[in-house]
Amino acid sequence: MDIFHIEGPVTLAGTVTVNGSKNASLPIMAATILAPGKSTLRSVPHLSDISVCAELLKRLGCKLTRNTNGDVCIDSTTIDNPIGEYEIVRRMRAGICILGPLLARCHTAKVSLPGGCAIGVRPVDIHLRGLTELGAQIRMENGYIVAEAPNGLKGKEIFMGGTFGSTVLGTANILMAATLAKGKTVIESAACEPEIVDLANCLNKMGAKITGIGSPRLIVEGVDQLQPVEYQVIPDRIEAGTFMVAAAITAEELKIKNCRLPDMMAVVDKLRNIGVTVDAENNGCVVARTGSIGTADITTQPFPGFPTDLQAQLMALLALARGNSVIIEKVFPDRFMHVAELNRMAANLRKEGPAVIVAGVEKLIAAPVMASDLRASAALVLAALAAEGTTTINRVYHIDRGYEKIERRLNPLGAKITRQSV
Ligand code: EPZ
Repeated sequence: MDIFHIEGPVTLAGTVTVNGSKNASLPIMAATILAPGKSTLRSVPHLSDISVCAELLKRLGCKLTRNTNGDVCIDSTTIDNPIGEYEIVRRMRAGICILGPLLARCHTAKVSLPGGCAIGVRPVDIHLRGLTELGAQIRMENGYIVAEAPNGLKGKEIFMGGTFGSTVLGTANILMAATLAKGKTVIESAACEPEIVDLANCLNKMGAKITGIGSPRLIVEGVDQLQPVEYQVIPDRIEAGTFMVAAAITAEELKIKNCRLPDMMAVVDKLRNIGVTVDAENNGCVVARTGSIGTADITTQPFPGFPTDLQAQLMALLALARGNSVIIEKVFPDRFMHVAELNRMAANLRKEGPAVIVAGVEKLIAAPVMASDLRASAALVLAALAAEGTTTINRVYHIDRGYEKIERRLNPLGAKITRQSV
């Protein structure tokens, strides 16, 4: 139950390096289930979600270690307990993505329904629909998904679109299951996120036959078996975007290393439109702001649209803009837990259904606030860097799920963040 005390306003300057992607690492760790043997994954960040995923794989029968280089070594030779337990999956929803690989390898799987979280109800109906199309028999039992495919899975054409567009982990589950299914699978309305591209590239390196990678139409020719792999996960574009906003909100210049601008064009475009400069520089970029912050209208969408995981951070920035902005959340319509907390810091935000009207204010004022979910807490840290006074952020464990010791990354750049353990 750590707390942050953050003094503001500060100006950040210097260089920060982006870590490997949490949302690429999680499904790729699950993918190692498909190939009995030792796989080595590089650049997997040190985050609580990664530790929970490791615990989940260990309970299945895998052996996991981190070697001296920090690589995650997963030995999936033995999977003798194909069960994703409630007390683990409830802590990390991405645990659902062991379902497809377990079914493909063991022809049986029992995984707890992940349940909702602060950002929404988050059903998995599309995951289950896709696996049923591949021939699995699925039933619910005491809050668990029980899936069986005694004769293995069979390739098929599957439409994966939902009310809010494509599903990222749903695509991951079906893609992984299809690699060992008999025959050809076509996934229509597949998610195109860079994390899905990374997963597909890793699976192909394991011997899978996937084409159409990066497009909404993925084609998978099933194979009999896959091989363990050595793989480096991509940089974390959401962490990179968070650092970009940190540079913009504190009006200085930051060099951000190990970030891939092509994965972030919707974000970079918005930042440039509101007066922030983002200049590519080898293997990264330089972000700076000199003038006032302009206004923008943002609608979150699946990739390549504006990522919902940066909606809260941009709201914190636009809270200081010269004029009104409108933010519409189209992926998780209820993802606005940060609104009331930012208003505690003297922002002027008004919620209207799936939209928030952001009326820019001269300055933010420090206050005690409560983190509710991973990205909302990142937005509170960013707001606190610009706010006058000392902000206290409770429930910092939310931010540790997706940012590795963020105070140790920002303090050398000029931030004044103290972590207090209570
Ligand atoms: C992934 O979650 C990410 N998590 C989320 O990041 C991210 O916000 C989200 O994709 C959208 O980009 C990981 O990769 C671990 P979805 P996921 O299925 O796959 C609805 C973070 O901050 N839906 O693409 O769970 C769903 O309710 C996290 O790092 C169904 O209706 O999201 C939502 O409205 C938070 N039925 C929409 O689709 C389904 O079966 C998109 O969700 C599946 C999803």
